Amino acid sequence: MHSYRAAILRFADDRSAIYEEDGLLVVGPDAKGRQVVRAVGPYATLAPDYPGVAVEHLPGAIIAPGFVDLHIHFPQVDVIGSPAAGLLPWLENYTFPHESRFVEEAHCSELATFFLDELLRHGVTSALAFATSHPSSVNALMAEARHRGMRLIAGKVLQDRHSPDGVRDETEQSLIDTESLIRKWHGQDRLGYAITPRFAPSCSEAQLRGAGELAAKYPDVWIQSHVAENLDEIKWARELFPASRSYLSIYDDFGLMRERAIYAHCIHFDDEDRALMRSTGAAAAVSPTSNLFLGSGFFDYEGADRIGFKYGLASDVGGGTSFSPFHTMLAAYYVGREGQTKPGVSLSPQNLWWQHTAGAARALGLEGVIGNLQPGCEADFVILDPRATPLLARKTAQATSLDELLFSLIVLGDDRAIARTVIAS
Ligand code: GUN
Ligand code: ZN
Repeated sequence: MHSYRAAILRFADDRSAIYEEDGLLVVGPDAKGRQVVRAVGPYATLAPDYPGVAVEHLPGAIIAPGFVDLHIHFPQVDVIGSPAAGLLPWLENYTFPHESRFVEEAHCSELATFFLDELLRHGVTSALAFATSHPSSVNALMAEARHRGMRLIAGKVLQDRHSPDGVRDETEQSLIDTESLIRKWHGQDRLGYAITPRFAPSCSEAQLRGAGELAAKYPDVWIQSHVAENLDEIKWARELFPASRSYLSIYDDFGLMRERAIYAHCIHFDDEDRALMRSTGAAAAVSPTSNLFLGSGFFDYEGADRIGFKYGLASDVGGGTSFSPFHTMLAAYYVGREGQTKPGVSLSPQNLWWQHTAGAARALGLEGVIGNLQPGCEADFVILDPRATPLLARKTAQATSLDELLFSLIVLGDDRAIARTVIAS
């Protein structure tokens, strides 16, 4: 066992933050040998229960759960910042050409290494990631994540139509490849597989049907896709699937909505879509930097909470502009402001932080496993330096409440505030 003495941030079941100014985090192996939180609480009361356990004292630091990125594209590292009129030209002119390069194994390995280094440098310890349509892209990412002991979920993209040569796959082979990758990677160490139809317009009915059959056959694998991001995209999806009630219900019609199904964006919904999210247990990956960059629109937080479906925060790199959870939380705050009808602060800093940690874990069905530092959680965490920059040091020194402290970090923080990222292994 090992322990850390510092300020400690974690979350209660009611989503409120618990903050220990002088806390102790005790970490040790569980029955499977995995490093988990064995105890957490005030240093003064907890320390006497753990005599002989080494204490790493980190005065001035804040320990917080590792961030969970609910939707990110590993092959889009080099796509960040590519301007386009909107989603569809962005895909055609930048994204598909970049993704076609992942036919080369050396490129897959180089990007997998860079991508995971970048996640960890920004304090992101878990992610639900799109690879490309090439199985070798999944193999490279999974192998590299396993090497680092990370809890990572990823999948081969399914796109058998309306996609150019180089990224388009073939219906039957794409489903065979998906099943082989599930068998190869799902449940290996901390890895998980996600069945990954890119979005309804890029998938034939046969491919969506096959994806739904695999989702039924492997109920504990994840599903990930995109929905209701952009008005042109929605119009196109409705034309291609006229029998479905809405864009979202296409996925339901093919058996792709259930617990562990994560849909990126979910912007242009009506209340029937929201009710479908709730009743099926699917969750939204809210991707505010991407939505602002591509001009897609604003996630409706009030609508989501009124009907009550699950959501969490995501970078959506490379539509998204940053790996930094601080940048994503700040963009989510702006988005909450945009849609706000009730008086007061729209999204509190505790709520924003929850959306990128425990809330994202709950959306994945991994509540109590990652995204928090309650006893039993896997010990993935960040050590934050609230004095990482001169301005951050000034601001955080003057904070008179937890909300003020967290808001200073959200507004002014970036990778410089991540002093260390620790992975349970
Ligand atoms: N819709 C289909 N593919 C993509 C993608 O790669 N990024 C985003 N933001 N939306 C998509
Ligand atoms: Zn995306």
